Amino acid sequence: MSQKTIQLTEPLYQYLLSHSLAEHPLQKQLREETDDLPMARMATAPEQGQFLGVLIKALRVKRYLEIGTFTGYSSLSVGLHLPEDGEMVALERKQEWAEMAQVYWERAGFASRVDLRVGNALDSLQDLLAEGKAGWFDLAFIDADKPHYNDYFEACLQLVRPQGLIIIDNVLWHGNVIKADHTDADTEEMRAFNRRVHQDPRVEITMLPLGDGMTLAYKQ
Ligand SMILES: C[S@@+](CC[C@H](N)C(=O)[O-])C[C@H]1O[C@@H](n2cnc3c(N)ncnc32)[C@H](O)[C@@H]1O
Repeated sequence: MSQKTIQLTEPLYQYLLSHSLAEHPLQKQLREETDDLPMARMATAPEQGQFLGVLIKALRVKRYLEIGTFTGYSSLSVGLHLPEDGEMVALERKQEWAEMAQVYWERAGFASRVDLRVGNALDSLQDLLAEGKAGWFDLAFIDADKPHYNDYFEACLQLVRPQGLIIIDNVLWHGNVIKADHTDADTEEMRAFNRRVHQDPRVEITMLPLGDGMTLAYKQ
């Protein structure tokens, strides 16, 4: 099969950004503040935030679940596009980062509609199920530790409604998924996860080369 997806050179990437981003001033401020942190590379890319925002509007998402919030770029991108009666559940294990995200949700005026749960996402997901939230969410975004991606995906399959969407980030894992000499646990898990989801009859997927690679899984 010949390759039709374009390779992004740096100038072409800059063109893409300058001809598609419509960053809210708060998104820009948060991105710049996050850039100063040692773990800045974990942040969701602005073009991914833009993509999430457009999806939220186009799909009329009202209930959004996020697994892995970090300093809040993706949740801010979503929150800015949720309707007035939209709600979000955000899961993050690190208090300090969750608090930074919260500051921006407050500035953007939607903090009261975010149910932030600081702790291990695996526990929070079980709590959500125990609270009767199965089938409650329109869209879930998985962006936390890779070894638990399968657990997150299984929980999301229960928590997202039929015809809802599960988005999984980092599926190309810096390109390491195709490098035979990369046998670390994260890479192996990402490979196994990608194989499983591709074969999973419960979802229909598309894998996009956006950011570090994003899979969109439509729940049947
Ligand atoms: C790639 S970052 C998320 C980026 C974020 N979506 C953004 O918009 O910038 C992954 C986050 O998942 C969190 N995380 C990792 N493992 C977790 C776990 N077991 N439970 C909850 N959060 C976890 C990390 O603390 C980190 O903030």
